[in-house]
This record gives sequence, structure tokens and C-alpha cells, in this order.
Amino acid sequence: MADSAGFQNEADLSALEGIEGWWSIEDRDFCLSIMRMQRQRRSAGAALELGVHHGRFIALLCSRYESVVGIDAWLDEFGADLDPESVRYVERRVEEACLAFCGRAPRLVRSKTKAIPAEMLDRYSFIHIDAGHEAEDVLADLVLASRHLAPEGVIVLDDAFASLTPGVCEAVFTFNWSAAGLSPFAVGPNKLYACRTVDADTYRDSLCGAKRRQLLGREVGILH
Ligand SMILES: C[S@@+](CC[C@H](N)C(=O)[O-])C[C@H]1O[C@@H](n2cnc3c(N)ncnc32)[C@H](O)[C@@H]1O
Repeated sequence: MADSAGFQNEADLSALEGIEGWWSIEDRDFCLSIMRMQRQRRSAGAALELGVHHGRFIALLCSRYESVVGIDAWLDEFGADLDPESVRYVERRVEEACLAFCGRAPRLVRSKTKAIPAEMLDRYSFIHIDAGHEAEDVLADLVLASRHLAPEGVIVLDDAFASLTPGVCEAVFTFNWSAAGLSPFAVGPNKLYACRTVDADTYRDSLCGAKRRQLLGREVGILH
């Protein structure tokens, strides 16, 4: 069912499980809480996803933000480029999945995230980083995200502490958060949540329960 702004409500979310992808329900629901809070505060503008794959997460973004951009190099499981016909097929599948879910489709850009010219991008209230998982890629994506974050925006980093992707964890601890004016405010089963330092206490205290730990010199909410 859609609300008055044409956005899908949470009763329809089970449809997303049919799109190939990975997430924990705690992370999905926490992302929804962030999206809801941004809409209540009228700070839900556009959204950006780095690393789209089959489109499960970007379909969720399309159901909550007016304008959504997805960047993907469309690499195969060995990190090689897909051929143009396969790329067209995957892009069409993502668009169809998003349209079927919520009646909106993202703007898809085929590119390595490092190769995107800054002028092609806008400012985004919600940025999901889930493209290359080597430390160098993630560091570059964190820099990109910090430059394109809208006021009261949130950056969500996938696989932040996953044992199969230690490069993401390395990037978390080598990125200069304070120079970027950013701070983490929550840790989920598979995602790290950050925003401008000035907004971090508000997001944490509004959305997280009582379970708290220290991370990078900040108190963060623990979701699981
Ligand atoms: C883990 S999947 C993304 C999953 C998706 N976010 C979801 O939640 O369903 C990673 C995607 O990132 C893309 N990718 C990997 N390295 C990339 C890079 N350097 N630049 C852009 N895309 C990249 C891959 O083609 C793949 O589709």
C-alpha cells in the first residue's frame, strides 16, 4: 500500500526478499528508521547507492526517496567486466524490480565508483556504500560520500566488520573521520552508520536503544 506521497509502506517489504541480495532484518529495519526520520524532518532528498548488484537495496531506496542514483561497474564474480549485452540485461532487471516494487526506478550509471566525475553527482540524504570491498576502494568511496552528503545525511557502509571482507574494516580504521567532519553513530549486524558529527548524537539517541559501545572515540548504538 502506498502513503499519500506515493511511497510504499512497510507491509510490502517481503517482496524485496525475492531480489537476490544480502541484508539482515535488523539493518534493513534500521535503514527504514533512518529514512522515516529523514522524511519526518523533511531532510529526505535524493539517495545514492554505490554497488547495486541485483537491486534489492536500491529498490528500498526507490520506495523512500524521490530521486535515486545507482553506480555499478557490473563486474562478474571474478571482478571482470560483464559484456555489454549482459550489462543491459542486468540494468533492465534492476529497473523492472524497482518498478514492480514501488513504481519508481533509479538512474543507473555504469562506472567504477572511482571514475565518476564529481560534477555528475548531486548531494544525497542517504548514501549506501557497497561496491568494491578492498580498503583502497572503500576509502575512495567514503571520500566520495563525504563530499556528496546532503545536510542531515547518513552514510551506510556495508560489510564494515565482516570477516570475509577485511578491507572494509581496514578502511573504517584508516579513514580520517574527523577531517571529513563525520562520525559513526550505530553498528548493525552487517552495516556501520555514520553522519556529520553535529548530527550523530541526534541520530543515535533518536533511533538506537540502550546498548552502547565506544567506536573511534564516539559512543555508538549497537543494534544486535
Ligand atoms: C555486494 S554487491 C552490491 C549489493 C547491493 N548493494 C545489494 O544490497 O543488493 C557489489 C556490487 O558492486 C559492484 N562493484 C564492485 N566493485 C566496484 C567498483 N569499484 N565500482 C563500482 N561497482 C563495483 C559489483 O559489480 C556488484 O554489483
